[in-house]
Amino acid sequence: MKRLITILPRLIPAAAVIALLAFVPLNTATADAVSSLRGPLALEKEKSPPPVYKLKLDQEKFDRNFKTQPPLIPHKVAKYKINLKANRCVKCHGKANYKEEEAPMIGVSHYQDKNGKEGKKINMGRYFCTQCHVAQADAKPLVANTFKGTK
Ligand code: HEC
Ligand code: HEC
Repeated sequence: MKRLITILPRLIPAAAVIALLAFVPLNTATADAVSSLRGPLALEKEKSPPPVYKLKLDQEKFDRNFKTQPPLIPHKVAKYKINLKANRCVKCHGKANYKEEEAPMIGVSHYQDKNGKEGKKINMGRYFCTQCHVAQADAKPLVANTFKGTK
């Protein structure tokens, strides 16, 4: 009991600060200033679908914004299937066929397991190519940002 009494005076200022903080408005965002990507539509209204942008296909490669960025895809991908039985991307980019297809070879890193050992087949952690590699459209960013790549 004696201990509690000696630390109590020290606890009281801390409690007071916490209590005060609860009344300080966090950021100044009010309900009016918040808008969703869907826009200010009533719940039962449907938003008209966004335009389908043309893919950017006028260059052979996109510059990378940072060293370890998965390179962006400079060609169409919609018809290339990736499923349990087949992976169309590997048919062009895989070790076995890339020369014939004149496609850039999949990075060696994609054939390594978690210990860095290179296998014959693509590592399953890299099987779903479009999880990391994406095509590009000439569209405005949905949300403004100040991102600048490093070189
Ligand atoms: C018919 C062959 C073919 C198929 C299928 C294909 N690609 Fe490509 N890909 C190419 C060629 C050729 C290039 C080189 C650029 C060009 O000519 O368009 C390329 C370029 C790329 C690049 C850019 C590489 C770099 O270093 O900048 C990426 C990433 C890529 N492809 C990913 C994919 C993914 C993911 C798929 C499957 C969804 C896929 N490709 C399917 C032939 C193919
Ligand atoms: C987990 C993320 C991830 C997945 C999944 C993935 N990649 Fe990559 N890919 C990368 C990164 C990061 C790089 C750049 C560094 C490197 O080469 O490892 C890259 C590089 C590449 C390159 C360029 C290699 C070079 O030397 O310039 C090609 C081509 C490529 N990937 C194709 C593919 C294909 C095809 C698939 C599917 C079979 C795939 N990737 C799956 C992340 C990924």
